[in-house]
Parts: sequence; C-alpha cells; structure tokens
Amino acid sequence: MIDIHTHVLPGVDDGSQSMEESLELLAIAADSGVHTLIATPHCNIPDEYENYASPELTELFERLDRERAEAGIPIRLCRGMEIFATPELPELLRTDRIWTLNGTRYFLMEFAFQEDPDYCREILRRCRELDYLPIIAHPERYDFVQEDPDIAYEWCTLGYGLQLNKGSILGRFGSEPRATAHLLLEHGLAACVASDAHSPFQRSTYMAELRDYLIEELGESYTRLLLEENPARILNGRELLGYEPIPFW
Ligand SMILES: [Fe+2]
Repeated sequence: MIDIHTHVLPGVDDGSQSMEESLELLAIAADSGVHTLIATPHCNIPDEYENYASPELTELFERLDRERAEAGIPIRLCRGMEIFATPELPELLRTDRIWTLNGTRYFLMEFAFQEDPDYCREILRRCRELDYLPIIAHPERYDFVQEDPDIAYEWCTLGYGLQLNKGSILGRFGSEPRATAHLLLEHGLAACVASDAHSPFQRSTYMAELRDYLIEELGESYTRLLLEENPARILNGRELLGYEPIPFW
C-alpha cells in the first residue's frame, strides 16, 4: 500500500511530537503493509502551522529519512504537505513555497470544515488554471459535503482527486463522516484512501485493518485502486483511474 497523507515529520504540527514517535509511525506503517508513505505536514494555516518550503524543513525531512534507514525500517519516504486553502494558495504553488506530492503537479489540500462551497470552487479553479492537480483531503469530514454530496460529484467530474480518511470509513470520527465516506465510495467518487495519521496511539499509520475492511466491503480490485494504484499514479504524476462517477439525482 501507499499512504499519501500522514503527519510523521516530528515537531512541526499536531502530528508526531518527536523523532522517536516519527520512527514508530513509520515502523507501524511498514509492519501493516505500507511500502511508500508521503509526509504531509500541515502548511499555510495562518498563525498556527505555516511550514512553507525552507532549508530547515528539507533538513528535517532528510534527517527523518536518515534515521529511518539507520533503524532499518523498510519504507520509502516522500515529501508533500497538506495545504490549507486560503486565497494565497495558487500563488504559493506558483512560487514554489510549498511541496507538492512527491514533486508532481498533484498537491494535497484541505478546507475549513464549514467553508463556503463557492469559495472552494474558486480556489480550486485558480489552482487548476495554473496546471496543478488538487487532491482534496477528507471531503467526507466537511459539513458542506455532508449536507450536499453533489459538491463531491462536481469535484470528481472536474478531475479533482478525492482522498478519504481511514478513520472516517471505520467510523472513528462519528456517524456523519462515516455515512458520507461510504456514500462517496458507493458513487465511485473516491480516488484513494489514506491514514491522515497523527500519532502511534490515535489515528495511526496502521493500514492493514482498513485494507481488510475494504476488501470485505468493496472487493479486491476497488480496494487495490484506492490503496495502491491511484496513490502510485499520484506519486508519479500520472492520470487517476476510477469508476464512472454516479450522480445523486
Ligand atoms: Fe491531515
């Protein structure tokens, strides 16, 4: 499996708080069948987690990867960020202030849970105009998508990738995100599923349970599409695959 959304860089956001915790998160991922993982620290959250591209952030990433190798953890670590959507986002992409997913045209972004859908539409359109390809983190957690899943359908038909969270599917964020995640899966609107891991204890990088659950619910080939095939396409900057999206009307 490939996990494209994790908070494993130590001490930069509300994810891992130390190098030890980061190594534990990587070991848990590897043990549960993940062979490649993208570190996606929160970025562009004003006054909280700014984390723009910098030599210090590069050094931290490289230090984690060195320690991973020394600890013998068999996993490939790649760079990314989870970028909070502000009006500056397109400009940040254009001026290389942020890390896209493994240096491709794909970038992982998140919205405020109660964002105005028209605002989302406008930011996404401006990023797309610059030839960047949005991967939208956990749409099933947004209030406005729960209320109107047509928004997810529209995003999907515009070619944006929808990344669902492991915890939503397994019911760890409550009934609404769970129901919406399952609805999006049934309608063929998800490009991939990731851990959005924050700590070894809660919201971890352990993915085997999710894989087994998805195989049971959706079958082997859909599960493979969500946990391996599309994440690999994101890593390599190739076009996403999917089923024909099913509208809600
Ligand atoms: Fe996240």
